[in-house]
Amino acid sequence: MNEPAQPGPDPGESRKARRRYDRIAPVYDLLNRFAEWFRYRRWRPLVWERAPGGRVLEVGVGTGANLPYHPDGSSVVAIDLSGRMLERAAEADLSTDGCSLELVQMDAQALGFWEGSFDGAVATFVFCSVPDEEQGLEETLRVIRPGGRMLLLEHVRSENPVLGRLMDWLNPLVVRTMGVNINRDTVDAVRRAGFHVREDRPLDPGGIFRLIEAVRPEPTEREDRDPNPTR
Ligand SMILES: C[S@@+](CC[C@H](N)C(=O)[O-])C[C@H]1O[C@@H](n2cnc3c(N)ncnc32)[C@H](O)[C@@H]1O
Repeated sequence: MNEPAQPGPDPGESRKARRRYDRIAPVYDLLNRFAEWFRYRRWRPLVWERAPGGRVLEVGVGTGANLPYHPDGSSVVAIDLSGRMLERAAEADLSTDGCSLELVQMDAQALGFWEGSFDGAVATFVFCSVPDEEQGLEETLRVIRPGGRMLLLEHVRSENPVLGRLMDWLNPLVVRTMGVNINRDTVDAVRRAGFHVREDRPLDPGGIFRLIEAVRPEPTEREDRDPNPTR
């Protein structure tokens, strides 16, 4: 499964992110209980209404909140930067009978998988905390087959100018304490990474939480004939 990614992620930033999540892993579910109960548990099934079947990559599996949703018959490889978060996910693994599951400690910014080796990918509330979200998204695009889909639940910077500026102002503090960026334009980053955004659906009245469906474009006929047209 080794195909080196290029260029590599910033090791200092990845280490910081990993340590933060290692630290909060024991209390992560407790800290999220309120949001999970009132919001996330209503939104997670929306991802799996349209999730890709077959061999699926889950990026940033965390403590395994999504594991019960993967449908029977799918083959799931779930990665996370934090070993401690993965340990919690391994405990939650019981609910996934019917689908095969492999948990792997890995950085989303440097995926050790072959190009096009997954039918699709899912990630929920992950790219807000990946140090270089565009690099993580480019890597996800690389390992999905052409035509394969990626489903995301994310929170993004508010389009409301006042709230947006408040989020910019608070962001450094939130990153330092929780490792989460609250002012990213993830939909734009998904496009810049090379995906075609099929749907960007606001989930709350403020439009901060989004369900994003994106597709890895099929190669054009010209690229098919000559993968390196500048030669
Ligand atoms: C906010 S948690 C979300 C966990 C889970 N997806 C959920 O919905 O509850 C973010 C997760 O992303 C992981 N993460 C952050 N940066 C990562 C990276 N570069 N590569 C892989 N996982 C990463 C963290 O370790 C953490 O488990």
